[in-house]
Amino acid sequence: MALNALSRHLVLVGFMGAGKSTLGPVLAKRLGRPFVSIDEVVEERAGASVAEIFAARGEPAFRELEERAALDLLAQRPLSVMELGGGGLGSATTRATLEERAFTLHLQTTAEEAWERVALSGRPLARDRDEFQALFEERRALYEAANGSARDLDGAVLAAAGAHVSNGALERLGELVPGSGDVELVADEHVDSLYGDSVRAALGTRVAGSHVVPAGELAKRAVEAERLWSALRGGRSGAIVVLGGGCTIDIGGFVAATYLRGVSWISVPTTLLAQVDAGIGGKTAIDLPEGKNLVGAFHWPARTVIDPDVLSTLPQSELENGRAEVVKTGLLAGEPLWELETFEQVRRCAAFKSAVCLGDPHDRGDRAQLNLGHTFAHALEAASGYSMAHGHAVALGLLAALRVSGLEDDASRVEEILRPSLARVDREAAWAALARDKKAEDGRPQLVLLEAPGKPRLGVEVQPRVVRAALDSLIA
Ligand SMILES: NC(=O)c1ccc[n+]([C@@H]2O[C@H](COP(=O)([O-])OP(=O)(O)OC[C@H]3O[C@@H](n4cnc5c(N)ncnc54)[C@H](O)[C@@H]3O)[C@@H](O)[C@H]2O)c1
Ligand SMILES: [Zn+2]
Repeated sequence: MALNALSRHLVLVGFMGAGKSTLGPVLAKRLGRPFVSIDEVVEERAGASVAEIFAARGEPAFRELEERAALDLLAQRPLSVMELGGGGLGSATTRATLEERAFTLHLQTTAEEAWERVALSGRPLARDRDEFQALFEERRALYEAANGSARDLDGAVLAAAGAHVSNGALERLGELVPGSGDVELVADEHVDSLYGDSVRAALGTRVAGSHVVPAGELAKRAVEAERLWSALRGGRSGAIVVLGGGCTIDIGGFVAATYLRGVSWISVPTTLLAQVDAGIGGKTAIDLPEGKNLVGAFHWPARTVIDPDVLSTLPQSELENGRAEVVKTGLLAGEPLWELETFEQVRRCAAFKSAVCLGDPHDRGDRAQLNLGHTFAHALEAASGYSMAHGHAVALGLLAALRVSGLEDDASRVEEILRPSLARVDREAAWAALARDKKAEDGRPQLVLLEAPGKPRLGVEVQPRVVRAALDSLIA
């Protein structure tokens, strides 16, 4: 069964009136894929509308045309977002091809909601309220067998990425971890003492082993990876459940990517930073003495399970770290996501990152936008000998990126929200670190800037003196 839409067509299924044709094109745009309506392809090929085909040739003839169009389109590239009409799943051939080539996403609705939307549409199957209700009940099981389900755009993006966000999700890990095979747990030592027992209880007899890693960046050393490789007992079909903040996720995901040449893993991020950023998108890494994240792999998790409830035990300083990434995400999305209550903040930010990463899983293009403010942040962190908190550095980095973008008002707004104190680092050391940054080609720094909130510009070459002035303005 498909776990995500990473290398598959994303096919929206659901009852008529669920909103597939409204949501589909917007979803496609967010994922950087074309949108295809199978009904429209049928209409084009037949030179007649669906209603006309029904009237002139009957439903069976329409279903045949629909099946042929679906099979043709599913065989084609590029990967797209497709809308399959409400009755399209009735064909066993279509269902088998979907199973092989697509991630099916059920756009949920109620019979009442759907009737309100389509009663006046003149659709052939929406003329009588009772028949409509009966058809809704009849098709329910077909839709519920879809690979994922959602009620709105962000829900659809999350489902397509294989991500699940809900309060209390940790206690439901038993259902949320795909399959029924053995799993081994890799957890941050501190998080294990807080949540390990409830996670093991939720997974029950599936837990074949439990391993802890040190809290924080210490976990991301090669020696820890080697220790885990040797301790793991599962075979190729086993899975690793990784529980903790971004550091644990990074090493756990990296070990999953490399152990036995790759086993599947489930990302269970427990810090705000990891729930909105590090836990999503399949980038995994460890550090070298020469620098952070220098060894790693792209390895998309079989599932990402996000339980915002666990943020209740997170220290204030770690919440602030994550908050800087929430503000970054809001600036990229062009919406003040930081104003939402925590659950929605996490859900919306996680969906934003999921969409960007689904569109660019190997970091060859659009994903670079996630580095907004980070060229400055990395320089400050390096100059501080990594004693500075990442969130603090990102907060300052965002100010610099906004200033260089000419968005002074937004910079003031971000300053008010995050109130970062100026960095106490050596200016020359910070400048040298910035020049060494991997984003600086030929010594000319390339930055992610914003044309306006919601409109990132990637790889902008900026005069070194402008960058230097922006960097200096962050330092006490
Ligand atoms: N892979 C990616 O795409 C990506 C993206 C951004 C950042 N990162 C990486 O993430 C790392 C930083 O992650 P982080 O900020 O989550 O730090 P972290 O993993 O060190 O966690 C911070 C602290 O919070 C504690 N903690 C975690 N969850 C808790 C909870 N629910 N309650 C109480 N305490 C809890 C941990 O024990 C730790 O001490 C960096 O190494 C960075 O490189 C990776
Ligand atoms: Zn960051």
